[in-house]
Amino acid sequence: MAEAFVCAGAMLVATDLAADALDDLVADLTPLCSALGVDPPVAAAFDASDLDAFQAFVGGAVRRAGHIDGLFNASFVTGHVPGVNGGSRL
Ligand SMILES: NC(=O)c1ccc[n+]([C@@H]2O[C@H](COP(=O)([O-])OP(=O)(O)OC[C@H]3O[C@@H](n4cnc5c(N)ncnc54)[C@H](O)[C@@H]3O)[C@@H](O)[C@H]2O)c1
Repeated sequence: MAEAFVCAGAMLVATDLAADALDDLVADLTPLCSALGVDPPVAAAFDASDLDAFQAFVGGAVRRAGHIDGLFNASFVTGHVPGVNGGSRL
């Protein structure tokens, strides 16, 4: 999926709990990005249920790219978001 986004010209911003997996992803995709003239992937490992960490990561992505066109989530993480419609599930 990440490769498909890169091939479509997207700047990839990825996160996962598994730092090794992210390192492998960046190593695999950086040459492809160079070949395609696409920005290299940005990755950071943290627990997606940590709302502060997630918001900081999204803020960094927006500062870097200007905007986010799409989000793909493959982890099944649930959590409580205080103050959103009285509390929503992630
Ligand atoms: N595995 C299946 O048979 C199956 C079937 C139907 C639907 N799904 C759904 O597909 C999605 C992925 O399933 P999967 O089996 O590949 O899951 P998985 O447990 O392999 O996790 C997918 C990825 O999410 C990461 N991850 C897990 N918890 C995280 C956290 N707290 N913070 C950040 N990253 C985290 C993992 O490191 C992994 O890279 C889930 O939403 C699942 O409900 C899975």
